[in-house]
Amino acid sequence: MLKAVILIGGPQKGTRFRPLSFEVPKPLFPVAGVPMLQHHIEACSKLPNMKEILLIGFYQPNEEINRFLSCAQQDFKISIRYLQEYAALGTGGGIYHFRDQILSGSPEAFFVMNADVCSEFPLPEMLDFQKEHGDAYSFVILGTTANRKQSLNYGCIVENEQTDEVLHYVEKPSTFVSDIINCGIYLFTPEIFQHIGTVFQKNQQDMLLEEQSNGWHRAEVIRLEQDIFTALAGQGKLYVYKTDRFWSQIKSAGSAIYASRLYLNQYHTTHPERLATNREGGPKTRGKCFIGCFVGKHQCLEFYTSSYW
Ligand code: GDD
Repeated sequence: MLKAVILIGGPQKGTRFRPLSFEVPKPLFPVAGVPMLQHHIEACSKLPNMKEILLIGFYQPNEEINRFLSCAQQDFKISIRYLQEYAALGTGGGIYHFRDQILSGSPEAFFVMNADVCSEFPLPEMLDFQKEHGDAYSFVILGTTANRKQSLNYGCIVENEQTDEVLHYVEKPSTFVSDIINCGIYLFTPEIFQHIGTVFQKNQQDMLLEEQSNGWHRAEVIRLEQDIFTALAGQGKLYVYKTDRFWSQIKSAGSAIYASRLYLNQYHTTHPERLATNREGGPKTRGKCFIGCFVGKHQCLEFYTSSYW
């Protein structure tokens, strides 16, 4: 049995989306005509063993999130729940705080995904890769390549080219480390919580020594990238599955347009009905759209089905 966690962050994280994100929380911002998160959920729901998807973040539960959850549960026929952190606990702290919920029902493995990425989500490939590499308890990071300059904005991975083991991990280095970058999509086994737990206990001890009044909270703030991956690199536990399929970060309104373009290209094969309905006299495009690029007479290469742009 499998589960998936989507890290949706919280309100103050979406500032680069302003003014577009004033009306809608960033994870629900429409990308290629559907909320950003729906692409993740759809990919997860295609895995036959997927039992539950958990959204973890520090947004106050609100009507928009609730509405999205109930529609998505119906559409994809899968349990989807939102778990709210009491504060921003970091990319590792949130999953550690809710580990009992993640592990209930005893999944063998679970995906963790950043909400603000667009991807072809090669999840079945990551599962196959995990079986072929390392032991059954190894962890997999989805990686892709970037140019030297771009790589500095991401987690950078040095791998063993024969085994794909992660030998060295540096989050947003100041000088070039590797052109293989972390896509923010991971496949973990329950054993990951032992590693996060070790960091948590160490943080707690450090806090006791410092006699901080908010020690508990500070100890729970754990970053997967800097605190866990950096330590696991070179230990025979962490592997990178490199994809050449499309992938992009969604950090700004501009990058949401680029992400829309990537998904719209994919719709030609996965969801032609979202692009146009065929009828006599030629196809009818759906929704409001700006047509960006034409090839030939009627063939539309790119467009944005949204009234936002
Ligand atoms: N639940 C929760 N709690 N989610 C969080 C928190 C938190 O405290 N902090 C961040 N997130 C979510 C964000 O909403 C986002 O979806 C994701 O985690 C990563 O956010 P950032 O911390 O802003 O990191 P980043 O996007 O700059 O870099 C990460 O993603 C890159 C790929 O897009 C890193 O993982 C990089 O290594 C990676 O290359």
